[in-house]
Amino acid sequence: MRKPFISANWKMNKTVDESVDFMKAFVPFVKDSLDVEIVIAPPFTSLFILNSLIKDTNIRLAAQNVFYEEKGAYTGEISPSMLINVGCSYVIIGHSERRQYFFETDEIVNKKIKLARRYELGVIMCIGESLSEREAGKTFDVLKRQVVEGLKDISSNGIVIAYEPIWAIGTGKTATTAQAQEAHEFIRKELQNIFGDKAQEVRILYGGSVTPENIDDLMACPDVDGALVGGASLKPDSFARIVNFKRR
Ligand code: PGA
Repeated sequence: MRKPFISANWKMNKTVDESVDFMKAFVPFVKDSLDVEIVIAPPFTSLFILNSLIKDTNIRLAAQNVFYEEKGAYTGEISPSMLINVGCSYVIIGHSERRQYFFETDEIVNKKIKLARRYELGVIMCIGESLSEREAGKTFDVLKRQVVEGLKDISSNGIVIAYEPIWAIGTGKTATTAQAQEAHEFIRKELQNIFGDKAQEVRILYGGSVTPENIDDLMACPDVDGALVGGASLKPDSFARIVNFKRR
């Protein structure tokens, strides 16, 4: 059985003070949600303080990015050991916004995953097609390429996949449950080719306009094991409702 995995992705939102306010309000909402893995990915600047607030809770921290070198002259970059030092259990790698605005290729994604795993950071690897790729019938080609190249020479341990169709991110336009299940099933088949039966243990999250209103339907899909949530994760009550989704 795959334990459901629900992660907030705050992107470039919340100061330290705002992060603390969120966490103080959020912890009581989810203190009994022990059958879900709960993760928050705040900006780097809030990791240190949030780490002190989540001690003795069931909440884990993720970073939104990491670099593929261990240390040195890389102005502005952050290493895996720095993330571990401030309490991160996971790191998001290859988010479509990083691929789009910061030119991250599958090769860069792969290098980042390799170093993160060497330090035993869990990895949430994001993949997903654009609207034009979907309309051109290339969705599965894109997903296959991102999975195969992103996971080259990597074992399944500590890997979580987030399927995030770019056209659904921040647009209020969620994939239908049929579209999500179809993509997740395809991704799991690709994982099976790479990891063999271990593919059954890999959590595949859906991301893209997840809300308290659509989470229950999405989680009812057999291959949807969780969610990566942007906009709806910024408010404690709304993210708590997503974490406490209703099982069908
Ligand atoms: P959204 O973002 O929930 O605001 O669509 C999801 C994501 O990009 O991870």
